[in-house]
Amino acid sequence: MKRIIEPELMEEAAQGIAYSEADFSDPNRQFIDLFTDTFPDFLGRGRVIDLGCGPADILVRFARQFPDCTCLGIDGAEAMLVPGRKRIVAEKLSHRIQLSCSCLPLSEEAENGEGFQAILSNSLLHHLHQPEILWQTIRDIAAVGTPILIMDLMRPESKKAARDIVSTYAAEEAEILQEDFYNSLLAAFRVDEVCDQLIDAGLDLHCEAVSDRHLAVWGRQNLVR
Ligand SMILES: C[S@@+](CC[C@H](N)C(=O)[O-])C[C@H]1O[C@@H](n2cnc3c(N)ncnc32)[C@H](O)[C@@H]1O
Repeated sequence: MKRIIEPELMEEAAQGIAYSEADFSDPNRQFIDLFTDTFPDFLGRGRVIDLGCGPADILVRFARQFPDCTCLGIDGAEAMLVPGRKRIVAEKLSHRIQLSCSCLPLSEEAENGEGFQAILSNSLLHHLHQPEILWQTIRDIAAVGTPILIMDLMRPESKKAARDIVSTYAAEEAEILQEDFYNSLLAAFRVDEVCDQLIDAGLDLHCEAVSDRHLAVWGRQNLVR
């Protein structure tokens, strides 16, 4: 099945609310576990960035796991950041997590010129009409040795297989979320496509399937900026 792109930004208020109320605890916990297992020597200090952070569930989990870091979440849709900002206040993490409405590629102001000590991104890649923007951004903002973890959906073989995945994992979720999930599966990349993107970007990162519907990319930045 060929990739069918979806709109890049999730700008509808209803999307932001449905997404923030959905239960992503399994994949989001898997994301944090994958990071800690892959980078056991990460000291948890410095600035961490989450690209396409949405309502910031990953950043809240990351900040709890690593209490000495500060976090910046970037998302181009304010509708997705609104529930994230509320969550951060409720979790008393405003002093450690900042959310910024910015689109990739990042401007110098968003990057602040200093680089980041860890780069995270979950479920952003499949939204991008030009996926190379994500890899270029990573090259631009990572210091040498920076741990990088990107997780995303993986495109199934057929529309029927995508519908089956939605029924298996999201049957209890709001209808708008089920439709977003289905469209996201059709827009996602396969492992071989992501491997080609990494080669084109000159990034020496590893990509593999980590569940029946997710792939992950990880490694350390080894290029001098
Ligand atoms: C499926 S959501 C994932 C949110 C969050 N990372 C999570 O795991 O819950 C994808 C997010 O990427 C954002 N996005 C898409 N294209 C973007 C771009 N070019 N720049 C910044 N954010 C973008 C969307 O607005 C949306 O909030």
